[in-house]
Amino acid sequence: MPRPKQHILVCGNRRPPGHPRGSCQDRGALDLMLRLRDEIEARGLIENVALSSTSCLGPCEEGATVVVYPDSVWYGGVGPDDVPEIVESHLRSGKPVERLLVPEEAI
Ligand code: FES
Repeated sequence: MPRPKQHILVCGNRRPPGHPRGSCQDRGALDLMLRLRDEIEARGLIENVALSSTSCLGPCEEGATVVVYPDSVWYGGVGPDDVPEIVESHLRSGKPVERLLVPEEAI
């Protein structure tokens, strides 16, 4: 199996109900992960793109948080409906989705 060219990290952290920081699981990270997996497979990118769920990535208030390496592009507030744009624009065309970028000071 070839080494992937990109690795997508999706925060899968869950905190107890009522926690002041919330968590990406509360913001739909599981559905997001499943949609990413399906979209990557459907577009034939499975050989080049690795996908992993992680613990907290840091900018919880911006969640659900997604990071794409080696580009070091941080996305926040990502939902399943954003996935086709991320896959097409960023993963296939190399153009990050500006509207979803986490502000530098929040990372
Ligand atoms: S809980 Fe997802 S970034 Fe912290």
